[in-house]
Amino acid sequence: MLPGAQRPRRASQLSISGECMRLLVVYHTMYGHTLQLAQAVAEGARQVAGIEVEVRRVQEFDAVNQIIDNNDAARQVREQQQDIPVCTVDDLKAADGVVFGSPTRYGNMTAQMKQLFDSTASLWLNGDMEGKPAGVFTSTASTHGGQETTLLTMMVPLLHLGMLVVGVPYSVEGMIHTEARGGTPYGASTIAGGQGELQPKPEDLAIARALGQRVAEVTTKVRG
Ligand SMILES: Cc1cc2nc3c(=O)[nH]c(=O)nc-3n(C[C@H](O)[C@H](O)[C@H](O)COP(=O)(O)O)c2cc1C
Repeated sequence: MLPGAQRPRRASQLSISGECMRLLVVYHTMYGHTLQLAQAVAEGARQVAGIEVEVRRVQEFDAVNQIIDNNDAARQVREQQQDIPVCTVDDLKAADGVVFGSPTRYGNMTAQMKQLFDSTASLWLNGDMEGKPAGVFTSTASTHGGQETTLLTMMVPLLHLGMLVVGVPYSVEGMIHTEARGGTPYGASTIAGGQGELQPKPEDLAIARALGQRVAEVTTKVRG
């Protein structure tokens, strides 16, 4: 609890906005792999009746934008996203459920995604995110580069915010495997390769769709 903070009971949290419930997909990416997973998550969520899906990107750092300026692949990916709005705290507040995606940085989410999480103090104080379903997804360069650690550590602030974390059950096709690809019970994932040369496998995208669908279904149940 912040010093002197009071946790008011909020009525708005228990109601839904209009007919449809809003499922927000928020991601950060540099080379596009997490973007592809975000698109698959959104596609899966759109299969659920009564769900309206919105996609938001996380604000990039100026210093990283300067690096991207000199990198053809990353610049193209940035251009692809120019019509996708940057996620705001109000977007998170308005959502009924949120799926967050971040590439792995040293076994954790990116600082850009963490910056978004760290800007949610007002939401925490008001309990605005409590009871909202959430899911997570990630991309790593290497097979054992930290998919599980990134996914699990991304869940920690979500639990502080009172969100209901939803994973991927093993009943989803493709979840039990020994191949060099993603797919974890903690969330969707993919392997990008050391130079970003790999693309998400069809199974990675299918599991990302399943995650989006599952978070959306849970959202209709708990927020409907
Ligand atoms: C500073 C830094 C740290 C990284 N740490 C890891 C890591 O711990 N494990 C790993 O497999 N990949 C690591 N990577 C590679 C990224 O995870 C990879 O570029 C990313 O998954 C690609 O996703 P994107 O196409 O969505 O940007 C790191 C990259 C950077 C720049």
